[in-house]
Amino acid sequence: MAAGLRFDGRVVLVTGAGGGLGRAYALAFAERGASVVVNDLGGDFKGYGKSSSAADKVVNEIRAKGGKAVPNYDSVEDGEKLVKSALEAFGRIDIVINNAGILRDRSFVRISDEDWDIIHRIHLRGSFLVTRAAWNHMKNQKFGRIIMTSSAAGIYGNFGQANYSAAKLGLLGLSNTIAIEGRKYNIHCNTIAPTAGSRLTQTVMPQDLIDAFKPEYVAPLVLWLCHESCMENGSLFEVGAGWIGKLRWERSLGAIVRGKDQPMTPEAVRDKWEKVCDFDNASKPRSIQESISVLNDALSQIESQGSISMNSTSSGSVASSSVNTTNVVGRQLTTKVYTYTHLEPILYALGVGMSTKDPDHLKFLFEGSEEFCCLPTFGVIPAQTSMFDGIPSLPGLNIDLAKMLHGEQYLELYKPLPTSGQLTSVSTIADILDKGSGAVLLIDVNTYCGNDLVCYNQFSLFFVGAGGFGGKRTSEKAKVTVNPPKRPPDAILSDVTTADQAALYRLSGDWNPLHVDPSFAALGGFQKPILHGLCTFGFAARNVLKRFANNDVTRFKAIKVRFAKPVIPGQTLQTEMWKEGDRIHFQTKVKETGDIAIAGGYVDITSAIDKPFDREPLKTAGLQSDLVFEEIGRRVKEIGNELVKKVNAVFQWDITKDGKTAMQWTIDLKNGSGAVYQGPAKSSADTTFTLSDQDFMDVVQQKTNPQKAFFSGKLKVKGNIMLSQKLETILKDYAKL
Ligand code: NAI
Repeated sequence: MAAGLRFDGRVVLVTGAGGGLGRAYALAFAERGASVVVNDLGGDFKGYGKSSSAADKVVNEIRAKGGKAVPNYDSVEDGEKLVKSALEAFGRIDIVINNAGILRDRSFVRISDEDWDIIHRIHLRGSFLVTRAAWNHMKNQKFGRIIMTSSAAGIYGNFGQANYSAAKLGLLGLSNTIAIEGRKYNIHCNTIAPTAGSRLTQTVMPQDLIDAFKPEYVAPLVLWLCHESCMENGSLFEVGAGWIGKLRWERSLGAIVRGKDQPMTPEAVRDKWEKVCDFDNASKPRSIQESISVLNDALSQIESQGSISMNSTSSGSVASSSVNTTNVVGRQLTTKVYTYTHLEPILYALGVGMSTKDPDHLKFLFEGSEEFCCLPTFGVIPAQTSMFDGIPSLPGLNIDLAKMLHGEQYLELYKPLPTSGQLTSVSTIADILDKGSGAVLLIDVNTYCGNDLVCYNQFSLFFVGAGGFGGKRTSEKAKVTVNPPKRPPDAILSDVTTADQAALYRLSGDWNPLHVDPSFAALGGFQKPILHGLCTFGFAARNVLKRFANNDVTRFKAIKVRFAKPVIPGQTLQTEMWKEGDRIHFQTKVKETGDIAIAGGYVDITSAIDKPFDREPLKTAGLQSDLVFEEIGRRVKEIGNELVKKVNAVFQWDITKDGKTAMQWTIDLKNGSGAVYQGPAKSSADTTFTLSDQDFMDVVQQKTNPQKAFFSGKLKVKGNIMLSQKLETILKDYAKL
């Protein structure tokens, strides 16, 4: 008998437990001490016929291993009877696994009324009836765990399964609400979308997949979700082959498409379509309340149009701004000269945590060092001094500097910064955005040494309460942040800031008392003075410079960050970094709280030796697929090491044209740091794919999926077919053309 998560004393009802997944659940629960009702109608996979043998067989298996089980032969449409079996045999019901199911696959227009109804009756109504029959027992005992079985066909759709998809996603809706109603009684309901070899999938999966996707690789998730110690509720999981992933909703920021007292038109919808569908900065609403709050915000934004307006224009269209931004955008603020000696770059370096303890920091801290130089991020210092002058007097803008938050920062360097001298910075308002709750000012600052442009900054400043003037929400002039890759970071460096970090950093020129005076910080709603965002930015940037550019300032090209959460001096900064070619993505977390202080950051560096792309000249056969392989080749050059670790296989491609092999390609993700080359595999290929140029393109562009191409005979596979699963991800991610 297995130890660990136990179910002694618990009574579990598994519907459709006579085979496939249900059987695996029943055996697993029984093995861990549960008493199990093994329900199965015993018909065929289309729902015809019935028999007691399916349930009996599983009950005998459980009993033979010393477990406790009783059979039930009713259809899930007789929900009460199933629960009655549990109560009669074991006196209670704790866990219900709604699993029974059949298929009646037909293309949409050929679905008969009967095929529609029976699928809904068994899957959706059956799960409802069984669960309802168990509900009050669970409620009274203040414990219940329920599983609904959905399907990828419901989540994503699948050709020929419209009836099944509809019922399967219906189960998710059912589960979502049960989870809310059950929460206070300790009744949890979760939904799974499994993939497993069974008689239901026998008709669509090749035998090796049927054998590989064992139901035993799904059951442990079901057991965990049903354990009394598991607090998960109202969630959806995809599971199969020993992998589990959780799903959630993502919603674009969206766009307001009507103005106050104006009709809403399809043209306005069309004009804002890109914005409606833009998932940058998307939210992940988790409840109906969160979902609706955005509508309330939109209403109040629309209603407040006009009341906050200044310099109102009379054209009346939504796009027209009630702040006359044309007066402001493009306006030059000031030109400022910043004069400095070696003192300022050294003070700055100390401010962002450099120390003589680190021998290679000396070149930033000691003017006598042969390599004495400025940290690249020192480039923000001359720029910031020029920027604030002039902002308060912008006509038509309800700007209050006390309500300013530094939102984002971009810095690009054209040459290393001089260690002393005079820099002249010219600031211009690049754009003004209306974010509803506030206005964003994009300020471009060009900094010159004599006539040479040395660096460019873009400050993104958020003014709380200054929005709602009917302006646009995004700007093509904005430098945008980029999310880091989903894999674990390639490097993490930690720095403990000191209690005086902000007191030290401010000496570089940002005198805002928010960073040093507790009473001023309290006025802004902070418990303590907070660190300058640009100080954290400096910490992160020098870590990237050290880790990925060997502290060589000439290799530092550009940096972009978003300031997401404040840092308190004394906290520990953890900079997580990912290398993707010449771009180092990073984010900085506060170790003590786990909060992300800097999000979506990246640094662009130049390669150590910028040598041209060396490769053998390509033979061409005029194939479209050549482009894709070249692109994959480029990516493999960049991140081959990581792919080799993940994939560990050699794939050969025989691309045909007019029925004959026109080109062979090999993607070697097994040896060294990977390679892509023309011709057959130099070592032997683990998997060889044969398909036409056009079919290859269809697969890559996701016009058809590889399974379909395989089943229709367009794609032939030799060797280890399972490895093709891994390849699918690579094609999807790395061949975007
Ligand atoms: P299966 O056919 O082996 O198991 C289903 C069981 O339900 C059968 O033993 C059948 O006799 C029983 N059943 C059918 N109608 C019933 C009724 N009215 N009352 C009581 N029992 C009834 O198939 P499999 O694959 O184990 O499916 C289990 C569940 O998982 C189903 O709901 C299916 O839709 C779902 N699913 C399975 C996937 C897979 O890859 N195997 C993929 C997505 C969902």
